[in-house]
Amino acid sequence: MRQAGIYGLGSYTKGRQVSNKAFEETLDTSDEWIRSRTGIEQRVFADDEVNTSDMSYHAAKEALAHADMSADELDLIIVSSVTGDYKFPSVSSLIQERLGAKNAAAMDIGAACAGFVYGVVTASQFIQTGTYDKVLVVGAEKLSKILDFNDRNTAVLFGDGAGAAIVGPVSANRGIQSFELGANGAGAEHIKADPLIQMNGREVFKFAVRQMGDTCMNLVEKANLTKDDVDFLVPHQANIRIMEAARERLQLPKEKMAATVHKYGNTSAASIPIALVEELKNGKIKDGDLVVMVGFGAGLVWGGIALYWGR
Ligand code: COA
Repeated sequence: MRQAGIYGLGSYTKGRQVSNKAFEETLDTSDEWIRSRTGIEQRVFADDEVNTSDMSYHAAKEALAHADMSADELDLIIVSSVTGDYKFPSVSSLIQERLGAKNAAAMDIGAACAGFVYGVVTASQFIQTGTYDKVLVVGAEKLSKILDFNDRNTAVLFGDGAGAAIVGPVSANRGIQSFELGANGAGAEHIKADPLIQMNGREVFKFAVRQMGDTCMNLVEKANLTKDDVDFLVPHQANIRIMEAARERLQLPKEKMAATVHKYGNTSAASIPIALVEELKNGKIKDGDLVVMVGFGAGLVWGGIALYWGR
């Protein structure tokens, strides 16, 4: 079996930067409450005319350029989103046309905030078996479309954005070493959109703290490694306290964890690839590093990947 890895990354984080203070005008909340409970200082809301497919397209273009590839080399496009432009057609079909990826199949998947991890794992199966050579995986959300701006429990937590990655074959000592995907539908009522987001924050928090840590430990064990081998952690950016709990389970120092939640809030499926782009640019992720990505979300679902970075 071939090794599958990630190369070529891109993101889209443009829009209106909205501070916590802005919510004080309309909700019984405060900058202090939001910061101390979540680590969020601001979020970005995409411009009105920018939809999920637009953000996906721009992130994908950047990922293709970063991988030095043309769109017609793609065999498959997977977009993970809970805020697609339409019920159908899929976001992946829309960007297939716009990118000119004429040889690519296209599908959207829904695994909420764990969606990027689900997408990369799905892509990796095609790569490992040799069925496909290059898969574009996008996590993109315009959550501002489904936020209830009258609900302080949810309105302050989320933001918009997109991230994209090319998944393809890598050398034997790089790429995915282990993964875990999981679901517990018994917790489905704790966070849903019908049509606006509703959430039982405390229940989601308890689940997330336990599951993020457990998944991190399972990933290193499945890869026949130990937590001391982990070089960098990229957790889903929902709440700094949940992220810190995962970091503490791995006993990693602060500087070895990606943290962008203060700038973007929770961008659901986009949060992990956006964080990867930023930490790669900051030089925090280096060739050969053992990187652990881990996410959780509505479903309830979770997913993680341990991989050696690089080609
Ligand atoms: N401003 C002020 N008060 C707020 C608030 C806000 N924006 N949002 C909620 N509260 C209030 C609640 O109404 C509740 O009040 P009550 O006790 O009178 O009912 C209280 O704060 C809840 O406090 P507490 O339980 O101590 O908050 P918390 O420490 O659990 O933090 C969350 C709340 C939502 C930040 C936290 O539970 C969380 O992050 N959960 C996970 C959410 C998540 O990650 N969702 C995305 C999944 S991908």
